[in-house]
Order: sequence, then C-alpha cells, then structure tokens
Amino acid sequence: MQKVKVLFVCLGNICRSPMAEGLFKHLVEEASISEHFVIDSAATSNYHIGELPDHRMRQTAASHGIILDSRGRQFRQKDFAEFDYVIPMDKSNRRNLLDIGKPAATTVFKLMREWEEDADSPDVPDPYWSSADGFEEVYQILLECCSNLLDEIREKYGF
Ligand code: 4NP
Repeated sequence: MQKVKVLFVCLGNICRSPMAEGLFKHLVEEASISEHFVIDSAATSNYHIGELPDHRMRQTAASHGIILDSRGRQFRQKDFAEFDYVIPMDKSNRRNLLDIGKPAATTVFKLMREWEEDADSPDVPDPYWSSADGFEEVYQILLECCSNLLDEIREKYGF
C-alpha cells in the first residue's frame, strides 16, 4: 500500500516537532488509519541527536494522554525526496532546511501554521526558553494544525 509520509521539522527536535509527530500519530490512531501513514520528525541542528523530547514537552503531552518517545535526529537532504509533506515549525527552520536541500517537485513544503485558521504569527513559538505556559500554548497550536492537516490529507487521498 502506498503510504503518505509526513515529516515535522524544528530546530532541536526535542520540543515542537516531536509534539507534532506524537499528536498527529495520536489523531491518526484515533481515526484507525495508521496503516496509511509514515510519520516522523527531525531537527535542522545536531544539538540533541539521540535524545528523548524535553521533559517539559513530554509532561504537557502526557497531560493530554500522549506519550512522546521519539529520539532526536537531524534532517538529511534525502528526506526531501522521501517525504510527501515536509513541515517546518517556523520561518528560520524553513530557511535552514533550504540550506540543507531542495524539496522535490511533489513535496508539500509549508509552514505548520498554514493549517491554522486565524494564526496570529507564521511561526509556532519556540518554547525552549519559556515557562510551562509556553508548552501548553504550543500544544494547542499544534492540535489545531494537526487536525486540519489530517482532514486535508484524508480528503486528498480518500481515506
Ligand atoms: P525545538 O526547541 O526546536 O522546538 O525542539 C529547541 C530545542 C533546543 C534548542 C532550541 C530550541 N537549543 O538551542 O538547544
């Protein structure tokens, strides 16, 4: 079966993109359509390779019933050829990705908040230096974006 491959990207791959990965997987599992997807996340930097997500992001996720257990990895040029959707969390992530490689003609390469209605910024805020509130805000933003992204994919692919 042809799978839809979705990759979320941020700077460290320990806060925003693992949260997006975990949330999107959760929504896909709830809809019982996991077999149609490959879902992953990656960093533009090499700061946290092999690490679990930040404990504050894991705690916020757990408070919403989502376990984050991915390990940090760095984006590779070939990810642009392998994934149907490459979704940076902010504009600087997008710039950094374009320094690493080039999207394929068919790659959907759009900022995460393009799937949010009435977003007040193009960027998912980086919570790394913020308080606990910042992590909950990121969760709420990503929930709407992931939900709308999943609706779009289901409509496009017909499942
Ligand atoms: P993320 O957050 O890009 O959402 O994973 C960050 C994680 C680590 C760092 C910066 C942002 N850092 O500078 O180590």
